[in-house]
Amino acid sequence: MSTCPIDTKVIRPIRFVAGQCQMLDQRLLPAEEVWYSYKTYQEIAEAIRTMVVRGAPAIGVAAAIGAWFGARDIETESSWEFFQQFEKICAVLLATRPTAVNLSWALERMKHFTESNLDRSVLELKIGLEFEALAITQEDEQANRQMGQYGEPLLADGARVLTHCNAGALATAGYGTALGVIRAAVEAGKKISVIADETRPFLQGARLTAWELQKDNIPVTLICDNMAGYLMSKGEIDCVIVGADRIAANGDVANKIGTYTVAVLAKEHNIPFYVAAPVSTIDLSLSDGSLIPIEERDGREMTHIKDIQLAPEGINIRNPAFDVTPHRLVTAIITEHGVVAGDYLAGLSQVVNRS
Ligand code: MRU
Repeated sequence: MSTCPIDTKVIRPIRFVAGQCQMLDQRLLPAEEVWYSYKTYQEIAEAIRTMVVRGAPAIGVAAAIGAWFGARDIETESSWEFFQQFEKICAVLLATRPTAVNLSWALERMKHFTESNLDRSVLELKIGLEFEALAITQEDEQANRQMGQYGEPLLADGARVLTHCNAGALATAGYGTALGVIRAAVEAGKKISVIADETRPFLQGARLTAWELQKDNIPVTLICDNMAGYLMSKGEIDCVIVGADRIAANGDVANKIGTYTVAVLAKEHNIPFYVAAPVSTIDLSLSDGSLIPIEERDGREMTHIKDIQLAPEGINIRNPAFDVTPHRLVTAIITEHGVVAGDYLAGLSQVVNRS
């Protein structure tokens, strides 16, 4: 892994330069814009685990690239032996983070390609996996742009939109899911302003959403997470739009911790609560949100900011990184295949099967 020079005209957190994958270190934003070059699947797995790259679609893309890089380095002439080694590489990548289903979705797609082409040579499999990883990357940005087209009519001209965490270009291959819908509304000529929750403890809202919207000259106001209710009660928020890490078959939505609180507040104030996510985030194998695995992260994220200690030594900590918003609180789910509302069980399976 090595650092490389900056090019940030278009925000894409993962890029390819001279056969190498480069990723923007999202832990350092907004203070520093540092890109690293990656050559092996182990390095990419570590980048996902340590959140150099984060956001459900972006970690799916990174995992696909990791799987391709791992495949590239397998030394065998036997396609069957190749597949067995490839499965082990995918298992290492899969073990990095548990909640976002995009990770397993991308790895399953890579494995499916390999398994269904075992009659081909190892060289052909390696070329095919490169093609597949690049397709997953390109399709993700296309899906976001399509989601923007479906979602932007939901935002009125002049809307003041609350978002939580970062569901922007940085969380995807480019453009963003929730922020993609906002970008599409701005591109359609609407005057939109964004209220960004800071999103404790990792501060994706303060560090990442604020950074990328400011870069695009979209008006953004930062608030602490506990201020959303007050602003809603004052009539200063017209709708909420967030991304998702996994959506169960019944429409329950796992997203960054604090999303559920915002959804309850939105319901209390009769404010629409929208979720924007590609179909790769929908997990029809889980009947409801109680089955979604929730990542618990190191307590140090809460007790410290960099090296500054905020809480007493030895204090008990709970640090769940995600929560589940029940589908009854969700006004609509925006996907690249259309907007689903009401009967999520039927609607979500329809958009997934349209893939
Ligand atoms: O822990 P993170 O930063 O990976 O969590 C990200 C989120 O919860 C996002 O809201 C979600 O992945 C949607 S991204 C388009």
